[in-house]
Amino acid sequence: MTNAAIDASGLTRRFGSYTAVDHLDLHIPRGCIYGFLGPNGSGKSTSIRLLTGLLTPDEGTVNILGLQLPRQAEELRGRIGYMTQKFSLFGDLTLQENLQFIARIYGLPRKGIKARIADLLERYDLTRQSKQLADTLSGGQKQRLALAAATIHNPELLFLDEPTSAVDPENRRDFWEKLFDLSDAGTTILVSTHYMDEAERCHYLAILETGRKRADDTPQNLMQNMSANVVEISGNSLRRLKQQLLLTPDVISVAQQGIRLRVLVDKGHTDPLSWLRAECPASLNDYQLAVVRPSLEDVFVMSTGAHR
Ligand SMILES: Nc1ncnc2c1ncn2[C@@H]1O[C@H](COP(=O)(O)OP(=O)(O)O)[C@@H](O)[C@H]1O
Ligand SMILES: [Mg+2]
Repeated sequence: MTNAAIDASGLTRRFGSYTAVDHLDLHIPRGCIYGFLGPNGSGKSTSIRLLTGLLTPDEGTVNILGLQLPRQAEELRGRIGYMTQKFSLFGDLTLQENLQFIARIYGLPRKGIKARIADLLERYDLTRQSKQLADTLSGGQKQRLALAAATIHNPELLFLDEPTSAVDPENRRDFWEKLFDLSDAGTTILVSTHYMDEAERCHYLAILETGRKRADDTPQNLMQNMSANVVEISGNSLRRLKQQLLLTPDVISVAQQGIRLRVLVDKGHTDPLSWLRAECPASLNDYQLAVVRPSLEDVFVMSTGAHR
């Protein structure tokens, strides 16, 4: 048996003439948290639907937990959990009723259901709300309920599609603590996001753009191996300086962050500060320059068309 939770090769899905997922290769080890980072429309949800067996690929092979898709999709169903991008539970049922309903769908043995639901409500800090209608929950509580529902049958592999897009930063952090608990207990997690801070928490990360995988590694390696140096420039009239820098060959991108410009310079220049000062002598005289460490956002800019 393969040791990977997910092995996909050449995975492709078209809608009419548009290719939403374009020859995606994925190898996702068991037990890790693996992120899909990409802008809207980059194919994250479509990829997840292909990997859960809900959508059939036009090309490519998919092996999930040792099962071949689409042939063994039915067998797979009980072993995976899926939290959709949009809240998809019943707003006019209570939390308890929602979870009872999901438990029956998964065919959990009747005897254990009550205890399992009590355990989930406790774990996701929802015991006090158990008789409340799901519609009346806050954004963070709804996401925790959705996570409880997606894990009620103890899946080996969990798909989470932009789970925290409607959640404030504090709740997002708490939500991620729960994901690490699940990961620690052996659950493999595939999570899509367009938040850099969220992506940085993943063990591995694929950057998607227009259905293609542009990069795939640990966040640390992606930052370390980036093919650009990052220079921060502070001083006055940053808007004007930005326009000048953008005209300089080998300056890949310039973005303002507060009182600084963040400049990506081709790694071919081993001393980017001297090189920049030599390229734009007059304009940089009154500025402070420093080489800083790359961030995941820099990697994202380098891997995608974000700078073009
Ligand atoms: N059922 C569909 N029919 C036609 N086009 C679709 C369908 N589902 C997705 N798409 C298109 O495929 C592209 C990728 O969509 P999606 O996977 O939802 O991206 P993401 O989740 O990264 O925002 C988008 O351009 C979207 O409009
Ligand atoms: Mg989506």
